[in-house]
Amino acid sequence: MSSITILGCMWGDEGKAKIVDFIGAEADVVARFQGGANAGHTIVLEDKKYIFHTVPSGILYPETKCVIGAGTVIDPYGLRDEMESLIAQGIDFTNRLFIDDRAGLVLSLHRQLDQKSEENLGAGKIGTTGKGIGPAYSDQAARCALRIGDLRYPEWLEQRLDNFYKYHQITLSASERKEELESLLEVGKFFQPYIAQTDQMLRNWYREGKSILFEGAQGTLLDLIYGTYPFVTSSHTVSGGVCIGTGFPPRWLDNILGVFKAYTTRVGAGPFPTEIEGPLADQIRQKGNEFGSTTGRPRRIGWFDAVAAQYSASLNGIDSLAITLLDVLTGLPELKICTSYLKHNQKLPGFVTHPIELKEIQPEYLTLPGWDIDISKMQKWDTLPKEAKQYLEAIQDLLKLPVKIVSVGQDRRQTIVNK
Ligand code: IMP
Repeated sequence: MSSITILGCMWGDEGKAKIVDFIGAEADVVARFQGGANAGHTIVLEDKKYIFHTVPSGILYPETKCVIGAGTVIDPYGLRDEMESLIAQGIDFTNRLFIDDRAGLVLSLHRQLDQKSEENLGAGKIGTTGKGIGPAYSDQAARCALRIGDLRYPEWLEQRLDNFYKYHQITLSASERKEELESLLEVGKFFQPYIAQTDQMLRNWYREGKSILFEGAQGTLLDLIYGTYPFVTSSHTVSGGVCIGTGFPPRWLDNILGVFKAYTTRVGAGPFPTEIEGPLADQIRQKGNEFGSTTGRPRRIGWFDAVAAQYSASLNGIDSLAITLLDVLTGLPELKICTSYLKHNQKLPGFVTHPIELKEIQPEYLTLPGWDIDISKMQKWDTLPKEAKQYLEAIQDLLKLPVKIVSVGQDRRQTIVNK
């Protein structure tokens, strides 16, 4: 009986998928608890490329069951396309994928509202993925949203759809209304075999001794409340989000693994204290392929921020760390880690989330020597160059947490487990 929660601990794109895939080999169940198709990752396995937005990547292990929890928001057409393309690649979903009937629906109006709101905000935009995530979650709070379970009941669906458009003060023509209802009912049929009340299933599996892996999407600093609001996503990306998003009791979160990149990235707008620009950032961006997997946008690059990382680790109750993309730093003459925030030359006690305060601070850095030996084939901690070990040890010391996993490349085999 055990659960492990794997969380991205900064602004997303920490390489969680690779770690979930690595640890997923030992899990009986992999569950998503928040977010939607704003997430995106590709897993390459035996030269085949699999693209995931909403389906948990645990589906690649034929015995593993996968859950899309109640806290997620689902674009039903996008998810059907994703599943159909995985089915065409030989993935079997029967009795393996369970979608909670309370997961919210992302409709095309949500995407339009997301894009319109970004246009209206102009220079002040959030830099969303444009997938309708914010409006879909707002509608849930406003109680006018449709949920995937509604697709099973035609009359109820009709009523809910009418209420949804009334709430948005939109009048559909009779033909538009008919068309939308028909396509929702049709896509609903596709999902019928997968819809379930997954909270009970997860609790039962845990009691039966199965191991459950919760897979976070985005990252802690994008959490709706605890992130760098308003430059955040609209779901709860922190460990507490697992319980809200899956109905799993907080006491049963046995092990929480925090995933950090060896440096930091951010997509979209918002403060980023350790950001670097110019040729060095370009070099890291190219080497780390730091372009959004959902939108293709170049990611902003920065040094490892131990102040933000400490906040994230303590907020989530992290037990151990996975450091990814360490190989990307190979060849840099020196590396920096932000160890404290200064305001008017005074050290702040810790991380701050207000954008004004984040803009005002000055990062204080520890500078460490780099290494230039290729580490991408190394499989043991001891074989890493001493400078790489020193860098990882500095992170351990600053966060007061052990680094358990180090990723030095995309492949499952390019992973070092620190025993
Ligand atoms: P939204 O989730 O599309 O509403 O976007 C809100 C913010 O979260 C923007 O800054 C996005 O760039 C960011 N974001 C959303 N999903 C991801 C992700 O998977 N990786 C990194 N950033 C993300």
